[in-house]
Amino acid sequence: MNPFNYSYPVNVYFGEGAAKENAPAELSKVGPTVMLAYGGGSIKKNGIYEEMIKILEDAGKNIVEFTGIMSNPTYDKVQEGAKLARENKVDFILAVGGGSVIDCCKIVSAQAKLSEDIWEYEYSKGNRPTEFIPMGAVVTAFGTGAEMNNGAVITNTEKMMKSALWGAFYSFAVLDPVYTMSMPLKQVISGAFDSLSHSMETYMGSPRDTNLSDEINEANQRNIIRNIRATLKNPDNVNTRSELIWAAAMAENGILKIGKVTDFQCHMLEHQLGAYTDCNHGQGLAVLHPVLYRHYLPEATQQFARLATEVWGIDPKGKYENELAEDFISTLADFIKEIGLPTTFAEMGIDENTDFEAIAKSTIRTGGCVKKFTDAELLDVLNECK
Ligand code: NZQ
Ligand code: ZN
Repeated sequence: MNPFNYSYPVNVYFGEGAAKENAPAELSKVGPTVMLAYGGGSIKKNGIYEEMIKILEDAGKNIVEFTGIMSNPTYDKVQEGAKLARENKVDFILAVGGGSVIDCCKIVSAQAKLSEDIWEYEYSKGNRPTEFIPMGAVVTAFGTGAEMNNGAVITNTEKMMKSALWGAFYSFAVLDPVYTMSMPLKQVISGAFDSLSHSMETYMGSPRDTNLSDEINEANQRNIIRNIRATLKNPDNVNTRSELIWAAAMAENGILKIGKVTDFQCHMLEHQLGAYTDCNHGQGLAVLHPVLYRHYLPEATQQFARLATEVWGIDPKGKYENELAEDFISTLADFIKEIGLPTTFAEMGIDENTDFEAIAKSTIRTGGCVKKFTDAELLDVLNECK
């Protein structure tokens, strides 16, 4: 295990009624003007908007609304939010939504306090912001675990990049399973697959020998797989939903990453696919994972074989390690099909004339990846996904 320092700044409130119960005390610690940030309007249909307004009014706050944050939030939307925050002297941001709203607000919070362009500040100059408007998150769509970390995935449409920018951690996060019950089932499944992907991408990082972080990770993966199946059988069960929400958070709260350098190469490729196609994140990962993993053989044979037995319950009797590794990949591919996620770009509606060469070329190569990909091999992966 690598040396590490673990400390965790987010105050997490989990359970039904958690917002009403805990947000008032949290809000009493912050200034009078609160930006209420949300997406395209789902919170107005499921009653969460009214609940938030009441909590904020009861706390005596002036409310500034920042609305219309889209899936795969854009850099322009970040700038719109930062301008609104500055003009209204916002003291606190309450982000209510899924990963897109939560990510967008992380960078709004930093950009509002920074006099220069944050993309240039982070990417060209290699800086990290140090001043932020404090924030709280109310999760309405789970999967990304974005409420648990300080990275934000933002699409820069001008530069054709979907990349991580670094913001602040949320001071608190509310995870109320009931708030997520109105999510479309398709989004529940693609979100849960995103959580499984985060767990696998962490597992595939180094060191690759058996360690506690990976053993906890195996349990997280088993939990997600079991609860995806249970959710498909009974979508209205709040207990299976609760498990998935916490498993999503567990994948991104740093615990599985303790002592590890993560892989996340599949994510980097999917993000660039998103920059060019604006596709759904979990669906993109579902198509890419088995194909990319076939390119990890033989470098990752040992880890894949361990995933086969410890996560997927494949009987190792009479099998060589490389057979188990291949079984893992085909079992993962079968599972993706079983749970109704797409297995090709065509199923996702991605145009076959998309500039896959540009996607391969612009994909960030991660330090923790089991192998260093060339542009040509990443292009092969993309072509095999068509
Ligand atoms: O915009 P509204 O109307 O709210 O609708 C949303 C959106 O259409 C809807 N929704 C949310 N809560 C709902 C609901 N519909 C009904 N009932 C509810 N309770 O769900 C749709 C998807 O929401 P979105 O936030 O876009 O999805 P998700 O949570 O999957 O977030 C995706 C974004 O997060 C990034 C992705 O790249 C993508 O941009 N990621 C962020 C990560 C992070 N910061 O750690 C890690 C991930 O790997 C990921 O890259
Ligand atoms: Zn993800």
